[in-house]
Amino acid sequence: TSKFFPIVETQDEGYQKTFKNCAELVPTLPRSKGWWLDELFQYQGFWMSSFPIRGSMLINDHFKPRPTDIIVATSPKCGTTWLRALVFSIINRASFDFNDHPLRKLNPQELVLLFEGHIHKDGSTSFLDELPSPRLLSTHIPYSLFPKRMTDDTSACRFVYICRDPKDVLVSKWHFSNKLRPKEVPPLSLEEAFDLFCIGVSHYGPFWDHVLGYWKASVESPKKVLFLTYEDVKKEPLGCVRKVAEFLGVPFSPEEENKNTVEEIVKLCSFESLSNLDVNKSVAKRSERPVSNSDFFRKGEVGDWVNHLSPEMVDKMNQITEQKLQGIGFNFH
Ligand code: A3P
Repeated sequence: TSKFFPIVETQDEGYQKTFKNCAELVPTLPRSKGWWLDELFQYQGFWMSSFPIRGSMLINDHFKPRPTDIIVATSPKCGTTWLRALVFSIINRASFDFNDHPLRKLNPQELVLLFEGHIHKDGSTSFLDELPSPRLLSTHIPYSLFPKRMTDDTSACRFVYICRDPKDVLVSKWHFSNKLRPKEVPPLSLEEAFDLFCIGVSHYGPFWDHVLGYWKASVESPKKVLFLTYEDVKKEPLGCVRKVAEFLGVPFSPEEENKNTVEEIVKLCSFESLSNLDVNKSVAKRSERPVSNSDFFRKGEVGDWVNHLSPEMVDKMNQITEQKLQGIGFNFH
């Protein structure tokens, strides 16, 4: 099993069973080369590396949701870091001074943990069970892979989802992948990245199916899933922050509005503010994560694809998007 997975020692019999099932399953799945030196496997319709597949199986088998759980969900490179920072500061706004805020000392990845990554921790759910309510977790897992006890109407946990124009996602992901690729390996060309992305072979992809899953859930269960786009949050950050707060049942009071709390949150979480903090300028890499805090901040703009994609690439990507999202009542315009 160590060929596919980092070893997690556990005495928990339930976990051991899931580990065994997963270790037997993964080698049988369709596979493809990844974007750095990883391998992607097609699991329940989505391309994922082995670690989050195991995470997803553990969530299904063992996670005990609470009605107050808040899940920040994204397809990678759609604004995960930004949304984590925003939701964290919205729900904890009464606890911290904006000048001495945890976001000034910790990267949003450290403040809001990746669900599928941390359910492995300690070989049991004790780590997640001990988090105080409301638990705020982040995920890239597609909506359809969560257990019914989290997604059906009897469960009160909520998902805040953000997605982004796939052309910008591709460009962002291509840059990010080349930072993660070991120096001995030639860089991934944009053409290669484009082809992989278009056939759906990207982390948690096909990208469009990921969007579709959360979009449909947000239409069917608007109290459970809030659907945002990177472009909308850029355009109307104040309105979006108010919308998230209302959705989570913690709307801003007239007093908070008078004190400009919404503006403070938007300012603290802006690209300019977060990317200029020492903690986020750090290029240090840790052994368990071959990526540094600074890698999560590049340009933070809408429409950088114009500087990278050829007219043919743009046409092809737009066609795929039109076709995949046809008739659903949402598109990236
Ligand atoms: P670019 O590569 O286009 O600059 P994720 O957090 O999902 O990994 O996404 C990374 C993308 O979000 C990068 O996009 C990054 O620059 C951008 N980003 C990071 N923090 C941001 C913020 N506070 N506001 C807006 N964009 C941000």
